[in-house]
Amino acid sequence: MNAAVTDTERENWEGEATTSRVVQPGELDLSHKVILYVDDITVSFDGFKALNALSLAIDAGELRCIIGPNGAGKTTMMDVITGKTRPDAGKAFFGQTMDLTRMSEPEIAHAGIGRKFQKPTVFENHTVFENLELAMKTDKRVWRSLFAQLASDERDRVAETLRQIRLEHEADRVAGLLSHGQKQWLEIGMLLMQNPRLLLLDEPVAGMTDDETERTAELFVSLAGKHSLVVVEHDMAFVEALGGLVTVLHEGSVLAEGDLATVQNDPRVIEVYLGR
Ligand SMILES: Nc1ncnc2c1ncn2[C@@H]1O[C@H](COP(=O)(O)OP(=O)(O)O)[C@@H](O)[C@H]1O
Ligand SMILES: [Mg+2]
Repeated sequence: MNAAVTDTERENWEGEATTSRVVQPGELDLSHKVILYVDDITVSFDGFKALNALSLAIDAGELRCIIGPNGAGKTTMMDVITGKTRPDAGKAFFGQTMDLTRMSEPEIAHAGIGRKFQKPTVFENHTVFENLELAMKTDKRVWRSLFAQLASDERDRVAETLRQIRLEHEADRVAGLLSHGQKQWLEIGMLLMQNPRLLLLDEPVAGMTDDETERTAELFVSLAGKHSLVVVEHDMAFVEALGGLVTVLHEGSVLAEGDLATVQNDPRVIEVYLGR
């Protein structure tokens, strides 16, 4: 049964058979290659517009950076996408059919949107391996499997994730003893265990060493394609290393969009953000 679901998902990813196939309810429809579509979203807090007619679209497999001054609305945008904040107006769709403004936070997470907040939140008293195990998308069975034997395909998935996040030599270490950067990777690994299609990462390299930042860029580049990523970050060397399209937010709207060099040379961007 699980294998059938995986095949369907894979088909969807490769964009095959999507025209001849009826999309089931709750299934991600990527037939137009867009995984996230935000249109004309406005969010007001006591009359102040944190988001002001914000529109953007992310392609399936894309690695997008969002930059902009403090208060531009970057985190609020993620709050809307994950169902934490309801917009006053506008649309937000996951694939062609899932209306995010009508889904609860758990429904959105279950549909395949994973979010990483700034602060790492790992289970400090559990080992790295156990943290990944706990995060696996097998719901309640995970809790049982902690005390029983893990199925071998589950073990393989944990091992693969350990390699991806470069913690394969720390598997039996208690998470509380990891460096700040390693904790961030572990939390990203925990998100990956849930097989998200879209990952939202808010300032993931804040507080990391230069070396950790570089490794994180490599990790994100390696995840793109299979996953779609939206990364909010201030560190320009990191944004450059990611190499994707950059969207500049300002006062709740898109100010500019393009490759990093283009937006860095945009006079309006320099004035409100980079020139400071
Ligand atoms: N829950 C809230 N209540 C009132 N104002 C808020 C709330 N959340 C965010 N804001 C305001 O909305 C604006 C955008 O905030 P935010 O999305 O956190 O910006 P960014 O992440 O780009 O720094 C800021 O002026 C912030 O003070
Ligand atoms: Mg923020």
